[in-house]
Amino acid sequence: MAKQIIYYSMTGNTKRVCQQLAAQLDCSAEGILAPFEGKPGLLKILKLGYFALTRRKTRITAPSVRTAANDMLILGAQVWAGTLSTPMREFLATGPVLPDRVALVLTSGDPKYPAQAFDEFARLVGQRPVACLHVSEAEAKSDSFGSKLDEFRAALLQQGAA
Ligand SMILES: Cc1cc2nc3c(=O)[nH]c(=O)nc-3n(C[C@H](O)[C@H](O)[C@H](O)COP(=O)(O)O)c2cc1C
Repeated sequence: MAKQIIYYSMTGNTKRVCQQLAAQLDCSAEGILAPFEGKPGLLKILKLGYFALTRRKTRITAPSVRTAANDMLILGAQVWAGTLSTPMREFLATGPVLPDRVALVLTSGDPKYPAQAFDEFARLVGQRPVACLHVSEAEAKSDSFGSKLDEFRAALLQQGAA
């Protein structure tokens, strides 16, 4: 089964998680580009939070989904203003043809599991995810998400991601 990871990461946390996962699964991890790069100050955080809350559209450059129906795609993004970040939302709005098995990764500043953002992510994907991984910003920055990654990978392997 082919595997592919597509993620958005503005400040590097989601990228770090997705790249480690890609190395372990021996697949590619490709980033979505959006015009928000650079370290966010308070004003930018407020602006982007507002964009996320008001479902503002944005321009993105996204990798192509190369997985076929019975492959596995892992999507990685982050929580903005309690909801799914704008670039991943935009990617899903382009209507990419997704395989039957999609797994989700979310990072957030809050260490609490972001159930609402995951629900929304799954609703926009249009199917029940085969597995969900949440990594907090603190865990991502201190590289202390190894056991969570192991559990997530085990769930993916159970779904046939050999
Ligand atoms: C605009 C903006 C809004 C955010 N809103 C939230 C939030 O509502 N809840 C939360 O837990 N973290 C929030 N965060 C923190 C990010 O989810 C967290 O830092 C995440 O790991 C960033 O991912 P990245 O480094 O891949 O871009 C926000 C960050 C930004 C930039």
